[in-house]
Amino acid sequence: IRELRNGQFIGSLDCGTTSTRFIIFDKRAKIIAEHQAEFEQILPHAGWHEHDPEALVSAMTDCINKAVEKLEWMGWSRSSIKGIGITNQRETTVAWSRSTGKPLCNAIVWDDARTLGVVREYEKKLDEEGLEIDDEEEDLHGVQEDVEIGTGGDDAAFGEKGDVVDTTATVAGTIGKAMEGLGLAGRGKANGSTRRRKGKEGLVDVTGLPLSTYFSAIKLRWMLDHQQVVRDAHEADDLMFGTVDSWLVYALTGREKGGLHIMDVTNASRTLLISLKTLQWHPPLLRFFGIRPSVLPKIVSSAEVYGTISKHLDTPLTDVPIAGIIGDQQAALVGNKCLRKGEAKCTYGTGAFVLFNTGSEIVRSDYGLISTIAFQAGPDATPVYALEGSIAVAGSAIKWLRDQMELIEESADMDILAGSVVDTGGVYFVTAFSGLLAPYWDREASGTIIGLTAYTTSAHIARATLEAVCYQTRAVLDVIEKESGNKLETLKVDGGVTNSDLAMQLQANIGGFNVARPAMRESTALGSALLAAHALGLFGWDLNNPETLAEVNTAGVHTFEPEIDAKERAKKIKGWERAVSRAKSWHT
Ligand code: G3P
Repeated sequence: IRELRNGQFIGSLDCGTTSTRFIIFDKRAKIIAEHQAEFEQILPHAGWHEHDPEALVSAMTDCINKAVEKLEWMGWSRSSIKGIGITNQRETTVAWSRSTGKPLCNAIVWDDARTLGVVREYEKKLDEEGLEIDDEEEDLHGVQEDVEIGTGGDDAAFGEKGDVVDTTATVAGTIGKAMEGLGLAGRGKANGSTRRRKGKEGLVDVTGLPLSTYFSAIKLRWMLDHQQVVRDAHEADDLMFGTVDSWLVYALTGREKGGLHIMDVTNASRTLLISLKTLQWHPPLLRFFGIRPSVLPKIVSSAEVYGTISKHLDTPLTDVPIAGIIGDQQAALVGNKCLRKGEAKCTYGTGAFVLFNTGSEIVRSDYGLISTIAFQAGPDATPVYALEGSIAVAGSAIKWLRDQMELIEESADMDILAGSVVDTGGVYFVTAFSGLLAPYWDREASGTIIGLTAYTTSAHIARATLEAVCYQTRAVLDVIEKESGNKLETLKVDGGVTNSDLAMQLQANIGGFNVARPAMRESTALGSALLAAHALGLFGWDLNNPETLAEVNTAGVHTFEPEIDAKERAKKIKGWERAVSRAKSWHT
């Protein structure tokens, strides 16, 4: 029997949309061992996308077990792993039973578009009834100064942006009555100072998010409205709601004895249920969506020791601390070391996500970007915020060409096919499979291929598919430039699509900026490992002091520089914008 060496490593569990990974890093962020497992994508109807929560748990344990097996095979003991961080696909919504610890239905995945009806219903409710806010809650609500608040009388007050605010005295108490039964009635009612804030700005002010099929509250509401078993559990106080981080931590910490029910702030900032200011569940939003507080996890920071891995779960990491949790796009920001205000990254995975660090300031976007929490490096740490541009379709379009269109056999063939032509031959592909997210926010948009001629081949379409994500990334960065006043010189990138040299060159050409791709591209996993090590005081990694990360992931960065001139770029972008205008509003 070999004697195993003791080292110091940190593990990262990365549960993405299509696969899970467990990666073991050393103090320079070199990967020592890893394992990846895919899980089933359940697509029951057009626009629906589900995951079996038990399959997520199995993929997780499989990855941990196999990666640790590889570590031991390399001669290192399992006790070399000092802690783990978790990062996850965000917004995906899981509902399970407190009494059995079992899922009540499949998880609804972030890009599922079935909830369009719920969005329309709540938009109407926002316009007609508004958010019910009492005196105590008002300060926390983040009401903008240009919005007038009516405090009495029969006249509604109008804010500059069309908000209508009036007193409960003037509004039929439809929400109030229903919510009283759920223990969610407005606290200000006793002194008669509850108000209503109508219109979508009230929601954006507090959450940083628009009403969209994308966010978790809308998915949970759909479950409550359409799944009897979820509704019954809600009424019986047996329902536990969570994002994927909550569900995996619950399973990791031992659901047999009632695992931890927590959600980190970055995931919570994607639910439509928290205030960006207080980092807490916001009662007016819970009342608005009709969600009982008892279903909610405790909100925690992105770096602290939350608990340890249970012996009940079949893994070799019993008692190892879980010390970091962060949504995957925020994790990639941290893993790319964009820790200072003004730094930006784009991760090209299933979708593509541009995040721009705005420091301790919550920057509101006038052009369709989301304000979100980037990370909070400890329970008492000042949160860091970001502006985000989310693009729903990136790698999934390549997958679509492979699996549905059968144009390629493997994703890696994309470069060969798309690289066999010098341009798209005038073809544009607006990959709006479930509407368009930032910066267009058109949920009625349709996937559109335009510019076809008898000359068009599959190669032109493949190239147009790669270009589609580059145009959308550029559109998001244009907005960031406008809102921040900063011209981006270099975009840091990571994610599966960045393996394509052609895609990265196209991004530099269309973007008109440099694209910097690190050799070790597991930035998402690295982000959660950095947070966990920070919480554990390991390797001297301190997120408040980026200098301590100088030695982390320094191996070769490849920079792609623009190879087309401004005139050609402008012409291409004009064609793209015309194609987008054709794709918009198709389903109305
Ligand atoms: O918001 C959705 C996002 O977190 C999904 O990321 O990498 O699984 O496509 P990814």
